[in-house]
Amino acid sequence: DAPYLLRVTPSQLKQMNGRKGRDAWTALGGMVYNITPYVPFHPGGKGELLRCAGKDGNKLFNEVHSWVNYDNMLSACRIGIMVEENASTV
Ligand code: HEM
Repeated sequence: DAPYLLRVTPSQLKQMNGRKGRDAWTALGGMVYNITPYVPFHPGGKGELLRCAGKDGNKLFNEVHSWVNYDNMLSACRIGIMVEENASTV
């Protein structure tokens, strides 16, 4: 686990779309995951996984495999929590 969790706003999440050398982050259940290291391991492939990059992935994720325990699988990728756009960062 990371030693602390980032507080991530929607606009920050949107930047992390896996393009232009940026890591791919997604939000699931209010938690933020850096899914970049998981990309090569996703059974559904890179293209499908990266559809949730830079955004809230709950809808896409649950449409395909709501039974998958993402928090358990991605515990090492957990980097933050979603906060409102204007939330204080301290
Ligand atoms: C399959 C994990 C996101 C599309 C799977 C499987 C796992 C997994 C464990 C195998 C499930 C099984 O065989 O029962 C994850 C994790 C995600 C994620 C941890 C975290 C973000 C997504 C997204 C999409 C997607 C966003 C599509 C928009 C698929 C598809 C399969 C699949 C299509 C089926 C592959 C097949 O059986 O041929 N995923 N997934 N996944 N996933 Fe994901």
